[in-house]
Amino acid sequence: MTPIRWGIASTGNISGSMATALAGVDGADIVAVGSRTQDTADAFAAEHSIPNAHGSFTALCADPEIDVIYIGSPHHEHHGMTIEALDAGKHVLCEKAFALNRPEAEEMVAAARRNERFLMEAMWSWFMPGWHEVRNRIEADAIGDIVSIDANFAIPIPDPNGRHRRLDMGGGALLDLGIYPLSISRFLLGEPTDVRALGRLTAGGVDAAVAGSLLHESGAVTTFSTSLDGRSDLTARIVGTVGQIEIHAPFWFPSAFTITVDGESERVETPNRGLAHEAEHTMERIRGGHIESDIQTWNATLTNMELMDEIRRQLGVFYPSETGDGFG
Ligand SMILES: NC(=O)c1ccc[n+]([C@@H]2O[C@H](COP(=O)([O-])OP(=O)(O)OC[C@H]3O[C@@H](n4cnc5c(N)ncnc54)[C@H](OP(=O)(O)O)[C@@H]3O)[C@@H](O)[C@H]2O)c1
Repeated sequence: MTPIRWGIASTGNISGSMATALAGVDGADIVAVGSRTQDTADAFAAEHSIPNAHGSFTALCADPEIDVIYIGSPHHEHHGMTIEALDAGKHVLCEKAFALNRPEAEEMVAAARRNERFLMEAMWSWFMPGWHEVRNRIEADAIGDIVSIDANFAIPIPDPNGRHRRLDMGGGALLDLGIYPLSISRFLLGEPTDVRALGRLTAGGVDAAVAGSLLHESGAVTTFSTSLDGRSDLTARIVGTVGQIEIHAPFWFPSAFTITVDGESERVETPNRGLAHEAEHTMERIRGGHIESDIQTWNATLTNMELMDEIRRQLGVFYPSETGDGFG
């Protein structure tokens, strides 16, 4: 198996988790890390035993040893960094939320096409064995037709200066947390035909709490909620015409779900190797010469961005780059 050589861009929380996950993936070599400063790059490289450390993203992109760059920066940086990496000839796995909005995401996909390089949104939940097993059971008619899905993701993130509450960094509960309730719904039911959302904004203009509903072509409905204040039970519940499934917390990277039919419950345990599943899929697609995932497709990412754009429009959340050009 040809090793795939990874570069990690940014040294924050999720990049640390990805470095740890990649260390356990067969055929994955982390050959470099890039940070905005040499000191943080050096510290991250030392912590994760990475041979090369670059003090800028541009230097990381210029490293000839790298096949694929994992981008773990805040949302407002994804568009620029992804395009720069693709234009430098690298494949890219870019964290969710993939971009600030659909127009940015379209430019990123165009750059992948132009450079004939692999590009995927790092929506890790779509690669979780537990989500695939739930979908398999539903397709095998375990609970009948889906009537409704209800999913929530609220955790307290109080720091007023952190990226989650900064409008200029693509903050807000929706892009960070609410994207997961939307994901389980879209994973099981496809793209919705209609959406309604209400929410409360912070003084700085990001969404602190959101509740909404989706309508699907089949007639199924989804209710979702998300917040940066308080903690919800972090489960997803699927109601079918003859039974129910509860995906246990944390529903976006689950290790178990329970199916109940006629009062009889079955608890199903599923493998969970965290970020390794999406990394393995990325490597498989690159080895196969593909530039797009067949699971987290570009179309899925673009329609998801469009859905979140519409929810933010209903809430009145507009990022600085969106005002003045007809978006806000
Ligand atoms: N899949 C998941 O489970 C998961 C979990 C958490 C977050 N995420 C996603 O991962 C991304 C990063 O989240 P995080 O929690 O890891 O964030 P974080 O801890 O704040 O780290 C982000 C890093 O991005 C780099 N960066 C580049 N440009 C920046 C800028 N203009 N301002 C601040 N930092 C900048 C910084 O690293 P350097 O100083 O090295 O440049 C920083 O440490 C987001 O898209 C988030 O939604 C995914």
